[in-house]
Amino acid sequence: MRRSATSLRRRLTWTLIGGATLLAVLFFLVVRTYAQQIAQQSQDRILEASLTSLMDAAVVRDGEIEVDVPYAAFAMLDTAADDRVFYAVHQGDALLTGYDGLAEVPFDPAVGLDFQTQAFGGAEVRRATLTRALPAGPAPVLLTVSVAQTRDSLAGTLWAISVNAALFGGAFFVLAAGMALWTSRSTVRPLSQMAEAVARRGPRDLRPVVRPVPTELSPLVTSLNSLMTRLSHSLTQSETFIAEAAHRVRTPLATVRTHAEATLMRVDKDENRAALRSMIRAIDESSRAAGQLLDHAMVTFRGDQLERRQIDLVGICRELVDRLTPVAEMKDLELVLIAEGPVEVQGDPILIQNAVRNLIDNALKYSPPEGVVRIEVQRDPVAVVVCDEGGGFPAEQMAELSQRFQRGANAGDTVGSGLGLTIAQDVAEAHGGRLGLANLDEGGACATLYL
Ligand SMILES: Nc1ncnc2c1ncn2[C@@H]1O[C@H](COP(=O)(O)OP(=O)(O)O)[C@@H](O)[C@H]1O
Ligand SMILES: [Mg+2]
Repeated sequence: MRRSATSLRRRLTWTLIGGATLLAVLFFLVVRTYAQQIAQQSQDRILEASLTSLMDAAVVRDGEIEVDVPYAAFAMLDTAADDRVFYAVHQGDALLTGYDGLAEVPFDPAVGLDFQTQAFGGAEVRRATLTRALPAGPAPVLLTVSVAQTRDSLAGTLWAISVNAALFGGAFFVLAAGMALWTSRSTVRPLSQMAEAVARRGPRDLRPVVRPVPTELSPLVTSLNSLMTRLSHSLTQSETFIAEAAHRVRTPLATVRTHAEATLMRVDKDENRAALRSMIRAIDESSRAAGQLLDHAMVTFRGDQLERRQIDLVGICRELVDRLTPVAEMKDLELVLIAEGPVEVQGDPILIQNAVRNLIDNALKYSPPEGVVRIEVQRDPVAVVVCDEGGGFPAEQMAELSQRFQRGANAGDTVGSGLGLTIAQDVAEAHGGRLGLANLDEGGACATLYL
């Protein structure tokens, strides 16, 4: 089977899984960023409230600011994670109460409420700062209040949200990947089902595909069907042509041969008789060559779409031996069939018979008179062996003998076209076997048709 470079299903699966991964990661990032913003906003709001209540506690007395730090201003900043709280109150750039260095002073009142994330007291804190000008005597005094809080609780909340978002993202991904696999499989299924249905057909089954297919596949099915129609048409044509051609060539040749033989009886002159004899020989040769050419065409044609049936090799060989015995007797040769019981094999009876006939034919042609030709049907491995008592195959040509039109050095003036072994070999190969040629030690050629 041909391995395809790309797979539609794989491509579809990976595209969908890639999309799902991207969406899952995006989902996680969006949820986390949004959660971070919201958490920060709520911390800022509490810091602002705390800041305002500190600011409200400030009073100006004799041009000096007094702050009575209210407990509630810090109580509202209590968190589950026991975050630390820092504060600082400045008049101008002088620290009135609280932690020194918490905020840069003097602070520009135009900025309004300012939030900063900064390091303080060995931790990261979020600080809110507000400056107000309080009316006190001739010139107003600048009151700057800062409240800061560590971010442990915020980080904890964020972590919990991130874990949840990751879990949801992961679950979403697993779900989407599963759906991607399912979708790609079900999308490609009609295609593979169709391919399977066509592949399961017998070699001679060229009926059009009628099973319903998705609309995207219907152009393919339409062209497949039209291809099959054309193929079936041309196959029928070549089959008829082969049969017809065999008939048309052999019949007139046989007629001419009969006439020539009849004339030979009536002619006395030696030179005319010789001419007629060589004419008969030429007719035999052409008739045989035509026959073999057509046999070869038939083997090529049928071998391509082998018809496999349960057949009995012994039966086929016995029939051939019976049919060829008269031919063998003309040369004083004996045909011996060595076989036990039926040997069943899956194959094309016409092809196998043709191959074995060619092997027996060779044995009859290339062995001297008064010998024995053995035809043995073997069971394991399944094979037909044809051995004679002649001079054997020309050893140095062994490899080429089964090539098309190839005749051996020992062919001399025997009639033939060099296609017999080719036919046998093609038939063996069409059945998944091979043709073996060997010479016997005691002399004689052995051709084995492995099926
Ligand atoms: N039984 C055999 N004994 C000796 N040589 C053989 C035998 N069968 C085939 N050969 C050799 O193999 C060649 C090819 O055989 P084949 O293809 O049947 O052609 P053809 O019989 O027309 O010559 C023959 O020309 C011959 O040289
Ligand atoms: Mg031959």
